[in-house]
Amino acid sequence: MSADPATDLMERLGTGDGARLLGSLPPYDEAGSLALMTRLRAEGHDPELVAAALTQARLRARGRARLGAWVDDLLLTQDGLEQATRPLVAARRADLLARAGVRHVVDLGCGLGLDSLAFARAGLAVTAVEADPTVAAAARANLARWPRAEVLVGDALTTPVTADDGAFLDPARRTPGVADRHGRTRRLRRLEDLSPPFERVTEVAATARVTVAKLAPSFDPRDVPAQARAEWVSLDGDLLECALWWGSGSPGRRAVVGRGGPAEPTWYEVAEVDDPPAPLARADALAGYVAEADVAVAAAGLTGSLAAAVEGHELAPGTGYVSAPAPVDLPWARWYAVREVLPLHATAVRAWLREHHPRTGPVTIKKSGVRVDPEAFRTQLRLPRRAAGVEEVILMLTTVGDTPRALVVDRL
Ligand SMILES: C[S@@+](CC[C@H](N)C(=O)[O-])C[C@H]1O[C@@H](n2cnc3c(N)ncnc32)[C@H](O)[C@@H]1O
Repeated sequence: MSADPATDLMERLGTGDGARLLGSLPPYDEAGSLALMTRLRAEGHDPELVAAALTQARLRARGRARLGAWVDDLLLTQDGLEQATRPLVAARRADLLARAGVRHVVDLGCGLGLDSLAFARAGLAVTAVEADPTVAAAARANLARWPRAEVLVGDALTTPVTADDGAFLDPARRTPGVADRHGRTRRLRRLEDLSPPFERVTEVAATARVTVAKLAPSFDPRDVPAQARAEWVSLDGDLLECALWWGSGSPGRRAVVGRGGPAEPTWYEVAEVDDPPAPLARADALAGYVAEADVAVAAAGLTGSLAAAVEGHELAPGTGYVSAPAPVDLPWARWYAVREVLPLHATAVRAWLREHHPRTGPVTIKKSGVRVDPEAFRTQLRLPRRAAGVEEVILMLTTVGDTPRALVVDRL
């Protein structure tokens, strides 16, 4: 039994009576939770354990979209859930580590242990270290059925790592206790705010056989360390992370694009190309089709690779949009046919809509590479409150060559 009440409760939920109580709860229903709590207390269950079990049920309901059916086997904390790696992404990473010859992984700052679980499932031995004793208790319960995985309460700064180990670090990017306006713990953006710190990541990378560090997807492609390979990962259009790899594969940038829904996805890798085509120099060079790079491709700064693959040109540096004479079927690009090219002025777009779409359906506004607030732009269009028609109009607010433009496009 732990001296800390929160840790003690987490430990009790992982075994014996607590686990049985949690397992016996019906699917979570906010409206019925008070009545359920009253009933369970009346049946003689410890009130604190009942409250903790109901919190778990609520967190599981909340975490289902992120963690899938596995969520029912996990103990969670609010912060831990928000930071947990999606199982499909963790599984791909674990598989790559196993294929790189790693047999034992040290997970330095394991949180609830979603990555450690994937390592264990891939057949690797795991030493998972976590500074927060309550989170560590949850991770221990989550890894209980894997005898070659152990969870230690400790400091990632002083945990030994050997040259035979694989090392994984997913540093916390939040300030505990500081909530944003939605009540979620505020995310930190700066590398120097990570815990364990980035210096520890590079120190470990100099020792371990293979090291992987999971960072925010907003990691700047210009900051990739010389010896590392950086992978920006998306799954079905959601940009999830940037992972830095040392000791496996060639250095450089890569986008990893997962497609396939909640089942086992297919992963497509997009690498840098030598001499990518230059972005368009002038607005009148725009061709008939525009490809939008997948979020991971754009975040990795690899829109040039898309331009090369489709024999096109990025509309302007950093837009993520590529002009091409004909669509090319690629799982990491979405295509649009250009219907109209307008000046980037609400009056011009409004006049065009009135003339060509008096019964316009919903208007979708996309923007990239221009400083425009899409919602303010929408207000300026003075659209009828209720769309009169059904046909969607897509506006792409962007820069073409050297000129801001509003493109009217059709999704292919
Ligand atoms: C982003 S979470 C890890 C999430 C995990 N990969 C998962 O998918 O479940 C980072 C964790 O590192 C822990 N941490 C931060 N600094 C640490 C340190 N110096 N030593 C050990 N753990 C640390 C935090 O408490 C937090 O639980």
